[in-house]
Amino acid sequence: MDREADIIASEHEVYQPSPDVIRDALIQDYDQIMARALEDPEAFWAERAQALDWFQPWEKVLDDSNPPFYKWFVGGKTNIVHNALDRHAKTWRRNKLALIWEGEPGDTRTFSYYRLWQEVCKFANVLRSMGVKKGERVTIYMGRVPELPIAMLACAKVGAVHSVVYGGFSEQALADRIEDAQSRVLVTSDGAWLRGKVVNLKSMADEAIHRSPVVEHVIVVKRTGQEVYMEPGRDYWYHDLMSLPIASNTCQTEVMDAEDPLFILYTSGTTGKPKGLVHTHGGYQVFTSTTLQWVFDVKEEDRYWCAADPGWITGHSYIVYAPLILGATSFMYEGAPAHPYPNRWWKMIENYNITVLYTSPTALRGLMRFGDAWPRRHDLSSLRLLGSVGEPINPEAWRWYYNIIGQGRCPIMDTWWQTETGGFMITPVPSVPLKPGSATRAFAGIDVDVVNEDGEPVAANEDGYLVIKRPWPGMARTIYGDPDRFVQQYWSRFATHGFYLTGDSARKDDDGYFWIIGRIDDVIKVSGYRLGTAEVESALVSHPAVAEAAVIGMPDEVRGNVIWAYCILRTGYEATEKLNDELKEHVRHETGPIAVPSRIEFVDSLPKTRSGKIMRRVLKAHALGKDVGDISTLEA
Ligand code: PRX
Repeated sequence: MDREADIIASEHEVYQPSPDVIRDALIQDYDQIMARALEDPEAFWAERAQALDWFQPWEKVLDDSNPPFYKWFVGGKTNIVHNALDRHAKTWRRNKLALIWEGEPGDTRTFSYYRLWQEVCKFANVLRSMGVKKGERVTIYMGRVPELPIAMLACAKVGAVHSVVYGGFSEQALADRIEDAQSRVLVTSDGAWLRGKVVNLKSMADEAIHRSPVVEHVIVVKRTGQEVYMEPGRDYWYHDLMSLPIASNTCQTEVMDAEDPLFILYTSGTTGKPKGLVHTHGGYQVFTSTTLQWVFDVKEEDRYWCAADPGWITGHSYIVYAPLILGATSFMYEGAPAHPYPNRWWKMIENYNITVLYTSPTALRGLMRFGDAWPRRHDLSSLRLLGSVGEPINPEAWRWYYNIIGQGRCPIMDTWWQTETGGFMITPVPSVPLKPGSATRAFAGIDVDVVNEDGEPVAANEDGYLVIKRPWPGMARTIYGDPDRFVQQYWSRFATHGFYLTGDSARKDDDGYFWIIGRIDDVIKVSGYRLGTAEVESALVSHPAVAEAAVIGMPDEVRGNVIWAYCILRTGYEATEKLNDELKEHVRHETGPIAVPSRIEFVDSLPKTRSGKIMRRVLKAHALGKDVGDISTLEA
């Protein structure tokens, strides 16, 4: 069956939760809670906030006097690290495992809440000794090792704002982010393990600093052990600093305003310059902990594994902050899913008795390719709940996940959300009937709809813009250093209605279930990673041979989309196979492996509007062999 036909068929395929799942779910009477939350979202969120510790209570739940710059829990004093670690270190939970970690080569480490808290205190003291102050931005660029969450939490503890740059990005992407955040301190590692090879993070960091020389101190975690260049007076080994007397076990947690920034996370948008979304201490802690607890039904005895990278929002919210706030035990794995064999994940689920697995459709499709024999070899009976995020999950992958991995026992929480939303927005909870490929309904207290060009709700089963109609506590507060762009990008399209524009198109079926169709802007989701067409295009044109470039996303069975690029060469350059390879290598070097086009075509011209905008729609239709549609506004 082709993909579209499968999606249509799956609308009538309903999976009811089992009586056991309903009986054991933490949240009962969800429909009533949802109805009440929508009637009075502020009361709902205030109640949720009361489940956490505050140094000083808030005076106002929501300040909406200056939209879209909403403020939550105004006047409240807190620090997310207090809720994530400090308070647990004083209770019986101090002895509970916070983190179980496995490296790609097979080495393991575990941290109790107490041990993790101590490590964070020590590193927070190191940061303070370097003069890191409240509000200062610290960039973190690392693989998936425990020091990554430790560094994030240590920043938050001293009130610094972390900016984690995904370890899969290369020089220019890192340099741009360092520059934008004006980070004086960079925390990185010598390298990272991936598919049995070492990724040379330190040398990429050196090159990025060369391009953005604002960095004064570099702290280097030793992970892979290869020789790296250490610049005297600038670079320090993490383990050396952590053994100094200044790295003591106790460290005062900075008292923060609820609205003080916690982190900046860069994501792709419609222009080449990445947007630094700003999230705060107060609302974010309430939103992420509530959504994780209710959706993944997290209980004390769970072993929860979010297989994302901490360098993305999924990792920030649902590997680092929310699970710790809930006092959960998390598992984290460093490397590639199929290394050294395609059973790696299933083997770890069996070994560690993982109960909840949260991953992406692209990872599932990648593992599905290897056949059922690999997961069938392992005892996956510990699993009780599954999750998906990052892109629409095609019904075929959904059924495989449900039947082969979950063995028909585990409900799948398909969570729709974004870097900007901080946490889950459209998602089931375990008691909700499921349809493969639908993220079901909006979470309690969240007001989502599908609207037409004029902002009016469309009829059932009609496509439209996915919008969020009311503010929520986990929302990004601004784009770092560029509030105008924040307004323009998200709040101007439906300004009269006050809706937040998600950038996705969607439709609602007769049961009110949401079906996400995909991005309607210049963002391409490759293996669930978000890339702007402009980012890849600017990497291409930074090569001396390329005069102009345009990229499009083309459907791909495993990766969701892959990138196809069209390049106009400068005079004097020849369209050769060698140049093609060189350009791919150039993009890998500049932006990172995920941005590498799977195909590059050399062309003499690109379709453009009269105002000079590249019509990617035309390129895509052409590539798909479809009618190119109305091209009356094309350049003569
Ligand atoms: O297009 C939607 C898709 O991912 C976009 C957000 O990407 P990012 O900010 O990188 O965050 C990803 C992790 C939260 C959305 O605009 N998306 C995310 N989750 C889903 C999804 N599309 C369909 N179904 C999902 N569950």
